[in-house]
Amino acid sequence: MAAAIYAGSFDPITNGHLAIIRSGLIAFDRIIVAVLTNPAKSPLFTVEERIEMIEDEFAEDPRVEADCFDGGLLVEYARSKGVSVVLRGLRAVGDFDSELQMATMNRNLAPDVVTVFIMANDYFFVSSTLIKEVAGLGGDLTGVVPERVHHRLTTKMANRG
Ligand code: PNS
Repeated sequence: MAAAIYAGSFDPITNGHLAIIRSGLIAFDRIIVAVLTNPAKSPLFTVEERIEMIEDEFAEDPRVEADCFDGGLLVEYARSKGVSVVLRGLRAVGDFDSELQMATMNRNLAPDVVTVFIMANDYFFVSSTLIKEVAGLGGDLTGVVPERVHHRLTTKMANRG
């Protein structure tokens, strides 16, 4: 079974992430979506909320599993799961430098783990950071995040005051 790890902050998961996962499922039988629990990033959503949002979107698809990944090296996490592919999405040229650096560092750390890139499609302009900014300013995010995520964002922003 070909499996891949798709790691990130997912704060929150967007339609861009979903598109990468769906494309990834053409290449891989199983994808573990690993939520990074990095409090230094002061996330808007808790790890549990972020995992729930991912699970909600793939409730009907046993090929996708949401997990949390706390702290250590991504390649060590991949090894601990018995997975040797790290899946990343590439949105625009701007992503390339940092992704090349990360993929090369990861290869240096673990030559047995390979990074595979999938090009973003229509959602190349979407990032969780922009989503939070737009949500905070009351902008319409229809079609950019899943409906359930949209609802959670609206509630979270309203509770923040
Ligand atoms: O959603 P993001 O911020 O693009 O995700 C980045 C992530 C989680 C893939 C990256 O920060 C990561 O791999 N962190 C784990 C720590 C690690 O392995 N660092 C060395 C990688 S070069």
